[in-house]
Amino acid sequence: MQATDPTAMHPRRFVASGPLRGTIRVPGDKSISHRAIMLSALAVGESRITGLLEGEDVLSTAAAMRAMGAQVERTGEGEWRVNGVGVGALLQPGQALDMGNSGTSTRLLMGLVASHPITATFIGDASLSKRPMGRVMEPLAQMGAEFTASDGGTLPLMVRGAQPAVPIEYRLPVASAQVKSAVLLAGLNTRGITTVIEPVPTRDHSERMLRGFGADLTVEENGGERIIRIRGEADLSPQQIVVPGDPSSAAFFVVAALLAGGSDCVIENVGLNPTRAALFTVLRQMGGQIEELNRREVGGEPVADLRVRHSALSGIEVDPALAPAMIDEFPVLFVAASLASGRTVTTGLEELRVKESDRLAVMASALTAAGARVEEREDGLVIEGTGGDPLPGTSTDRAPVATHLDHRIAMSMAVAGLVSRDGVEVDDTRPIATSFPNFIALLESLTAQ
Ligand code: S3P
Repeated sequence: MQATDPTAMHPRRFVASGPLRGTIRVPGDKSISHRAIMLSALAVGESRITGLLEGEDVLSTAAAMRAMGAQVERTGEGEWRVNGVGVGALLQPGQALDMGNSGTSTRLLMGLVASHPITATFIGDASLSKRPMGRVMEPLAQMGAEFTASDGGTLPLMVRGAQPAVPIEYRLPVASAQVKSAVLLAGLNTRGITTVIEPVPTRDHSERMLRGFGADLTVEENGGERIIRIRGEADLSPQQIVVPGDPSSAAFFVVAALLAGGSDCVIENVGLNPTRAALFTVLRQMGGQIEELNRREVGGEPVADLRVRHSALSGIEVDPALAPAMIDEFPVLFVAASLASGRTVTTGLEELRVKESDRLAVMASALTAAGARVEEREDGLVIEGTGGDPLPGTSTDRAPVATHLDHRIAMSMAVAGLVSRDGVEVDDTRPIATSFPNFIALLESLTAQ
């Protein structure tokens, strides 16, 4: 018998499968899940988390917090119990922290280590090892941490925490919630007030959850800027956290249902934090029928069930000011634009080039391979839609589309396959497990009805 090769790629052809019908529930929000584990691990006492996303990225965070002394245990599906060590009491990890594919784990944990008297080495997969860490090293070095990084400020990278760290006032040079969060988390164990100024608002889950755990954190709005101040050293008290569903995961089903003729489905438990939900605004501007049912609050975040019906979409110029609130949703928006009538123009998207892959270049070539009309520009894509006709797809004698270890490319091109004539073959579906382990099962359940 031949042993299976754990490094082998998992190619898969996604084909047209009729309308999406029925009801599904999306898994927990990835950003909130990371933060729930980290803050629980820093509170003194036992926190309980339900609805946690059990994707590989979040499991990397859980393993790292265990390696630094917290007890982090799974007690049921999406249910976790964490006994924290207390701010200031993280232990020196015995081995390098393997962050897998997860930029969020890496950058936020670099912030935590930076103000603790410990040294930690971060390693990751081929995709993560290309991503820029200089953007977090810069403010954390100002706080007193020391770094030894690979060329270009990448992983593998060692952080020596400052003892003690000094508070800074830092204006974000890029719209990045990860950089903001790294500085705020470093501020937890830094005596005095650490200030982050955000010229453009980014997702605010760190601020919401830090306050929920009892940190002294204030947010002031001033001339369109947000000034966030956190007072250290902080004491965090354990919490019961319910993680709402991930709008970035819901996005794939929303677009698939808008595009596939005859679709009418409900996606339950979708987080609609305004710093995350701009994709739904843009899709509505394009003519998408997306209805919010049963609006409520889950874990301090607005949530609704989304009823989505097949709609004729029209191309638009996407307002670049909306980009930070839908930064992870552009790959699937590009798929929607490929089937809209007319031209969609996106700008201001330089940040997409430093995600799990260069999402402008990779989506341009994947969609072109599937027969879409796409022009790649420095800061965005321009797409001429088919007017609702299916994409041609990738023929069986051509190479599959390359996903470059990027979960959102794989899922976006799966959606493109559903609305194509010949199907789309994706070279590797394994990265989907980083954020959405049951994606294919849910897709099959919606298309089987
Ligand atoms: C995230 C912030 C965003 C996003 C990422 C998750 C977070 O990254 O792309 O998937 O949880 O803070 P940037 O901070 O690099 O924009």
